[in-house]
Amino acid sequence: MKILGIESSCDETAAAVVEDGRIVKSNVIATSLEEHKLYGGVVPEIASRRHAECISGVVKAALDDAQCTADDIDAVAVTYAPGLIGALLVGVNFAKAFALSANKPLVPVHHLRGHIASNYISSDVQPPFLCLVVSGGHSHIVAVNSYTDFKVIGKTRDDAAGEALDKAGRAMGLAYPGGISIDRLSVRADENAYTFPHPRVSGSPYDFSFSGLKTAVINIIHNANQKGIRINTADLAASFQKSVSDCLIANLEKAMLDYGYEKIVIAGGVSANSKLRKEAALMCKRHGRELFLPAFKYCGDNAAMIASQGYYEFLAGTRADEALNAYATMPIDESYKNS
Ligand code: KG4
Ligand code: ZN
Repeated sequence: MKILGIESSCDETAAAVVEDGRIVKSNVIATSLEEHKLYGGVVPEIASRRHAECISGVVKAALDDAQCTADDIDAVAVTYAPGLIGALLVGVNFAKAFALSANKPLVPVHHLRGHIASNYISSDVQPPFLCLVVSGGHSHIVAVNSYTDFKVIGKTRDDAAGEALDKAGRAMGLAYPGGISIDRLSVRADENAYTFPHPRVSGSPYDFSFSGLKTAVINIIHNANQKGIRINTADLAASFQKSVSDCLIANLEKAMLDYGYEKIVIAGGVSANSKLRKEAALMCKRHGRELFLPAFKYCGDNAAMIASQGYYEFLAGTRADEALNAYATMPIDESYKNS
């Protein structure tokens, strides 16, 4: 079965063709990142405009690369939530028009479920497993009981991990997105040069809080500036990255042991982080658990992951009609309900 996936939730316009949920036939991504860099973050209006300009060319390229036509496609899967509403709407409306004109089923896909599925196109991992989903907008520990059955065990109370890295990077004067800049700068730096508090969240041992860490890094920079002390930015970046990774791994480890999962999976843009990948591998090795990481090319936003999850949603009977809408927020464990 061939699924055409379409993704436009943030600044990537993406389309892909995936066979049987696992075999990537094509994966095309156009990004407006360079334009957003000028502003230090994603500007929703610019993202929407670029999606509208690129989407038909990107979908055509994905079909061409997969050497198929609309007739060869069995269903169209599209990200409908969560994300920037104007950006999502471009993909949703294009997918609706495509499905209607080609007379194909339309399958709505939750963006974070798609990130989890980036592992299905990277390895042969199958649910059940415990997944740490870390992106620019979300930080979740999710029990993935089947391809379409999710239970949130822990989540961030404030900033997402990627958001904290991006904001800290900005405070350090690094290029957007800060997460990537911090990772690059940390390679040969001293990660123990600066110490950060390990935030505890009352009520749940699995929830995260990153806004305090972000404030701490801003305070370090502010105090150093006031006192005329030179900051070693590489060491500060490495130390901050270590503290974010330590928080993520500590809660993941606790959830893994408490819930008894044998397979651990990481997903989302921050899953590309070298420190997090290394620490997750060490933690799983310590406990004799299996770790699955997405291939680097599938860590960030792409449509192959949407097509992959779309396949499993299709098998589970998830369908949308022309009334499909886009939603800026949507819990990962909420099933799509056709209006
Ligand atoms: O999943 P994603 O591409 O978009 C969202 O759905 O949010 O995630 C983007 C986030 C950004 O915060 C970016 O800084 C972060 O992923 N990111 C990284 C790395 N690559 C991307 N953070 C740390 N290390 C990286 N190598
Ligand atoms: Zn994403």
